[in-house]
Amino acid sequence: MPEKILILDFGSQYTQLIARRVRELNVYCEIHPYNHVPDLTDEVKGVILSGSPCSVRDQNHPTIDLSQYLGQLPVLGVCYGAQLIAHEHGGEVTPSTIREYGRARLSELHSTNRLMKELTPDSVVWMSHGDTIKEIPDNIEVIASTDSVRVAAYKLRDQETYGIQFHPEVTHSTEGKRLLRNFVVHICGCVQDWTPDQFIENTVAEIRETVGNDKVVLGLSGGVDSSVAAMLIHEAIGKNLYCIFVDNGLLRKDEFQSVLDSYKHMGLNVKGVDAKDRFYAALAGISDPELKRKAIGRVFIEVFDDEAHQVEDVKWLAQGTIYPDVIESVSVKGPSATIKSHHNVGGLPDFMKLKVVEPLKTLFKDEVRLVGRTLKIDENIIGRHPFPGPGLAIRILGDITAEKVHILQQVDHIFISNLKKTGLYDEVWQAGAILTPVQSVGVMGDERTYENVVALRAVTSVDGMTADWCRLPYEFLADVSNEIINKVKGVNRVVYDISSKPPATIEWE
Ligand code: XMP
Repeated sequence: MPEKILILDFGSQYTQLIARRVRELNVYCEIHPYNHVPDLTDEVKGVILSGSPCSVRDQNHPTIDLSQYLGQLPVLGVCYGAQLIAHEHGGEVTPSTIREYGRARLSELHSTNRLMKELTPDSVVWMSHGDTIKEIPDNIEVIASTDSVRVAAYKLRDQETYGIQFHPEVTHSTEGKRLLRNFVVHICGCVQDWTPDQFIENTVAEIRETVGNDKVVLGLSGGVDSSVAAMLIHEAIGKNLYCIFVDNGLLRKDEFQSVLDSYKHMGLNVKGVDAKDRFYAALAGISDPELKRKAIGRVFIEVFDDEAHQVEDVKWLAQGTIYPDVIESVSVKGPSATIKSHHNVGGLPDFMKLKVVEPLKTLFKDEVRLVGRTLKIDENIIGRHPFPGPGLAIRILGDITAEKVHILQQVDHIFISNLKKTGLYDEVWQAGAILTPVQSVGVMGDERTYENVVALRAVTSVDGMTADWCRLPYEFLADVSNEIINKVKGVNRVVYDISSKPPATIEWE
């Protein structure tokens, strides 16, 4: 097991970013809800306490027994984490008198302090807090301030316990990564050997050990996650991995065949299953987006189950679950509402009675890509945009028919191939076309037309949680629109979606 840093999550919106930054230093870390932390093991080299929307002044503020960590191993409290440690050591935390949100500059740096090593005076840091640490007892030493915050960073004098009021994990803190390096490398002593190669070596060995000579089934989707999971397991057990790639009739144009070919080329033992008609039959007449998702999920399970049963004596089900799917989010302010029931999580039902293997469940998406590239998976698979499980079904507003799918596939193909041709594809996080149920009047030659409106959507994003519409060049949009209207029968108008998320979402359904 690699050495690791534990991140205790008190509900901050930035907790995942802390993990990302630590891992960028080639140090493995895990996020755990503050009230569900596993026992310490020898691999744990340090602990980071995250921020929180709560205040230590609230009577029922989230807290932990700090004595199990403080003085035992290095601890870094960030924002709320820092306030919590100060509060429990007799410090006084009060509401900030001025709004402390945004950039600030560090002053009075104790450059001899190991956390502050090589940080430059006036270094820009990102503040986001409603409380501030006003008074501290003698056993706490201030190691940096800002204009409005005296205790911007501190150290407990007799131990390796630190607190910082700002957020080193956000990129606006220009030397935040250096500070985190100081903590995890110089203070915790981590050796920075968590690399893609190392991950592959460990994971392949682990899969061999757990799965042994058993057979494993895996549903490939054409996406990055399932493909990388498949290649890792393939490295470990070769032909005992049985991959199933289902054509649900809702994929992009020609995607089924081309992806199937890539998989075969990669040496995978893969079976392509044409189940288009089963999906179309189940979707007939359904317009409600959630009902579409449910129907697709149900048929997928049926098809997959039929196929999996043909693999004699199969014992394991592999899934491409990734870290953001499994991080238990901390609900310090009540449960958050379900906006869309994305079906990646949860996967297949218990009745399959298979044991589950999830080799990517500790990785973020960009780490999955790095592993995929190290495994030399085709760039055509690794670099592709995310594509929703229910596919074009949630980009056809209203009910689904084979004919509508055919129209949308052509539109989408023109859009995506032009993005690739002009080199814009990699600048976009996700792009696609939407077939609206709106018809509008047009004129072609001397004929009046009354045909469908399609919308194009292209967004920039880092994780899909928030997104902005992409400022694609007008010339590009003009060419794409022209080509669509000229070539795709049934479409006479193209619009471009200029909504950001929030308040819109990436998909229209
Ligand atoms: P939204 O529309 O919620 O999408 O902004 C965020 C990301 O999730 C994808 N998405 C889905 N993925 N099943 C999936 O596997 C779904 O039902 C689903 N709905 C949205 C969407 O494409 C985007 O990448």
